[in-house]
Parts: sequence; structure tokens; C-alpha cells
Amino acid sequence: MTDHPAKPVLLTGASGNLGRALTKFLAAEGWTLRLTDIVPFPDPVPVGAAFTKADLNDGVTILRLAEGCGAIVHLGGVSVEQPFEEILGPNIRGLFHIYEAARREGARVIFASSNHSIGFHERTETIGADTQFQPDGFYGLSKAYGELMGRLYWFKHGVESVLIRIGSCFPEPTNARMLATWLSYPDFSRLVVRCILTEKVGCCVVWGASNNKRMTWWRSDARATLGWAPQDSADPFAGQLGGKVSDDPVEERYMGGVFCSMGWSRSAPAPAGLFD
Ligand SMILES: NC(=O)c1ccc[n+]([C@@H]2O[C@H](COP(=O)([O-])OP(=O)(O)OC[C@H]3O[C@@H](n4cnc5c(N)ncnc54)[C@H](O)[C@@H]3O)[C@@H](O)[C@H]2O)c1
Repeated sequence: MTDHPAKPVLLTGASGNLGRALTKFLAAEGWTLRLTDIVPFPDPVPVGAAFTKADLNDGVTILRLAEGCGAIVHLGGVSVEQPFEEILGPNIRGLFHIYEAARREGARVIFASSNHSIGFHERTETIGADTQFQPDGFYGLSKAYGELMGRLYWFKHGVESVLIRIGSCFPEPTNARMLATWLSYPDFSRLVVRCILTEKVGCCVVWGASNNKRMTWWRSDARATLGWAPQDSADPFAGQLGGKVSDDPVEERYMGGVFCSMGWSRSAPAPAGLFD
């Protein structure tokens, strides 16, 4: 059993894949949770939790839901590449509502950022948390914006954030890229616990990947401060997934994988950097 936070935790995107897994994990620890999503919670709401259906675009309801909370785990929003207009409301305006609520409550934000905020770095690179954003689509751009929102609210208002650049968080890895980027649900859940319970986090970035041998891409983050070390690994899947690559050179060249080649309109070859 983990310690309990002193105040309730607001969890957005509760009805999504990670939201459901995290709810189960934290409820089993006896935490008090306020769950919210735009679609109904598909599972029985566990003891210690309450669910409210709400749109992230509705700032008044988000403020109300956050009242008295000590942390907001923000998983809600569009979670794949979509046209800009579809991303704008949930991921940009919705994020502003989350940070305004956090500022009013003095709450900490745990933000589900993404590797797609840096997706156009090449897989041969090793990058630190302070690397340049190189988003691979409007979705990744919204995550870069979210991280910058966290910095703004830290410097101007003292709102703490942990910005988790999640790799691929699924029950199991399903292709060769995920042998590097996979994050197990239990590793993710334990990371969120540390993000909430660590006394001081400031505004920090942590890469969300399990202990995978092929994860040579991402280094230098806040895991030591958070006291988190991933325990699971994609390595046992290497035999069955090692050859599961695409024949698309753009997808295979960059960290963001298939998100990089979606809507690609540049003439080949793919650029090595900003001046290429
Ligand atoms: N799963 C991954 O591998 C991964 C990788 C990188 C980042 N992330 C991020 O982690 C978070 C959770 O991911 P997931 O895989 O569970 O995604 P998901 O799509 O299953 O869950 C997102 C949830 O947000 C809700 N939502 C969408 N628009 C909303 C709105 N306007 N108001 C309220 N709720 C709204 C959806 O209904 C959904 O339940 C997302 O922010 C995603 O971008 C996930």
C-alpha cells in the first residue's frame, strides 16, 4: 500500500484506457478520486471514487470539480492525430481550464504529455528532457503547448507540474518500435503515485517508458527526484516483435513512428534536421 494524499485527486479522461487502469490501481490503494470524462465511466465506479460527466471545454464545471483537490491527473482529451479543429477544444482550451483550476486550488498537475511532442527526433539520437520540441502532428503540438502551459503556470503562479512524456502505454507492446517505447500500465500507475506523493516537484519532465533495453533514445529526466524506476520491460517480446517494422522510411526513421508519416507531403528524403 502507498501513502495517501491529504486531498482528493481529480482524474480527467477517466473513461479512457489509461484512466480506467489508473482508477483501478489508485482505488485499490484506497485513494479518494474524482473521476471525469465526456463519456460515461464504463466500469463500476469503485469505492472512494465519484464520477461526473463533463466536457473539458466547460471551464466552470472543471473549476467546480477541482474544488478541494490537491492534484489533477490530466489524461483527458484527443489522444491521437486529428484535424486541428478537433484538437483545439479539448487539448488547448481544455488544458487552460485545467491550469486555471489548479491555480485557484493550489493543486499540482500531472499532465499526460507524449513522445509525439518530440516525434521528429531521429531514433539514432539520445535526447534529454530539455530537448527541442519537434512535434509530429497537431496532436503532438497540443502536447508541446501543454508542457509550455505548465512552465508558464510554474513561473508566474507557482503551480507545480509533472509532465510525463508517455511512450506507448498499452497492455502489451505490439510492434518493434514499442520494444523501445512501451510503458506498462503498472509502471505508469506507480509513476503517477510518485508524481502525486513526492513533496516538491517544481515543473519537471519525465519520460514514460518501461525498463526496455532498446530505450536508448531518452535520458536525463526527473525520475530520481520522483523516486521512480520502471520495473517492467518489453524485452521478453523482442523475439516475436523484433521484425515487426513497416516499409515506410519516414515512420522508421523518427521516434514518433507512424504519426510522422501521417499527412506527410514533403518530397523524399526525410530531413536530418532543421536546416537540411
Ligand atoms: N496510451 C498511450 O500510449 C499514450 C501515449 C502518449 C500520451 N498519451 C496521453 O495519455 C492520455 C490518456 O491516453 P489514453 O490512451 O487513455 O487515451 P483515450 O483516448 O483512451 O482517453 C482519453 C479520454 O479523454 C476523453 N475526452 C476526449 N475529449 C474530451 C473532452 N472534450 N472532455 C472530456 N473528456 C474528453 C475521452 O472520452 C477519453 O476517455 C491522453 O491525454 C493521451 O494523449 C497516451
